[in-house]
Amino acid sequence: MEEQLMTIKNEALSLILDAGDIKTLEEVKLQFLGRSGKLTLALKDIVNVPLLQRAEIGQLINEVKQSVEEAIDRQGEMLKNKRLEKKRESIDVTNPGIKPPSGHIHLVTHAINEITAIFEKIGFTRVRYPEVEWDWYAFTALNFPENHPARDDWETFFTTEDVDSKKGSIILTPHTSNGQIREMQRVVKEQKGKGDISIRMLNIAKTYRRQSDVSHTQMFHQFEGLVVGKDISIVHLKGTLDYFVKSFFGENREIRLRPYHFQFTEPSFELDINCGVCLGKGCKLCKAGWLELGGAGIVHPNVLTFGGVDPKIYSGFAFGFGPERCMMMKEGLEIDDLRLLYSNKLEFLTQF
Ligand code: PHE
Repeated sequence: MEEQLMTIKNEALSLILDAGDIKTLEEVKLQFLGRSGKLTLALKDIVNVPLLQRAEIGQLINEVKQSVEEAIDRQGEMLKNKRLEKKRESIDVTNPGIKPPSGHIHLVTHAINEITAIFEKIGFTRVRYPEVEWDWYAFTALNFPENHPARDDWETFFTTEDVDSKKGSIILTPHTSNGQIREMQRVVKEQKGKGDISIRMLNIAKTYRRQSDVSHTQMFHQFEGLVVGKDISIVHLKGTLDYFVKSFFGENREIRLRPYHFQFTEPSFELDINCGVCLGKGCKLCKAGWLELGGAGIVHPNVLTFGGVDPKIYSGFAFGFGPERCMMMKEGLEIDDLRLLYSNKLEFLTQF
């Protein structure tokens, strides 16, 4: 009996290994484990085994059955994988493909790129100065006396107490105007008193203020222009801003400079642009016909001096606006909560 079982087992295992497809394998399975399969019959035959050997033979039959079952499973698995591989090999190249999801640059980055291209056309160079900065560059050198109340308008994040006797504490830049001082110092150092000083800077950077609500995000961007040279006047400022507004918003738009106050410019202005819908007449959208864009002015002589530039020889103008605001005004976007811009919500971002 034992011998007979071993023969059945070997026969089964070799047939299983030879089975080249699932159908043949199924047939082999039936031949051994089916209702009248060889192993099933052997198990039934156990009644003819002398009582004393029955337990031993019974166990043997079960072991053989188990190893045959395992071999069938293994072979089945192998055949299935082979079939999949074959399928993969025979890809129908005429089938339409599955398009992987593709993203696009963030709408603020898009606005920044567009703004940069517009200013580069008229000779501005984009620079980037620290966003974690000494108080001195962001305030003192911009003509804010120590403890001057005007500093409060900038809702600044201070990261340290006073750490430097001259430069004060370290802050997160609440505006990009620190770039004015940095750029003047860089150019003055480069020229070392040889040639004339000539600056056309565009500083685009992240700015931070302690404000977070539907119309403010704690982090936003600014683009800061600074032009320094001989005989630079308001005419140049107005011409440059007019060129920017017409290039970015459209030829039919007009600007106006409204008197304002900044510590670092004199005179100072806020730049308004006429409403794209009523072109300045006044409508439901804009109310008075004009929309506010940001600050600008003629660089204060003290600021030139802090930057190492002689105000008796040179003059300059500067402006600072938000690309987020420009982008929203251009697209007529009414985002009810500005924080959405930086929330990384795909439902929002994929709309653009
Ligand atoms: N720094 C000013 C602000 O954050 C803008 C500005 C820049 C004004 C340059 C005048 C000149 O509001």
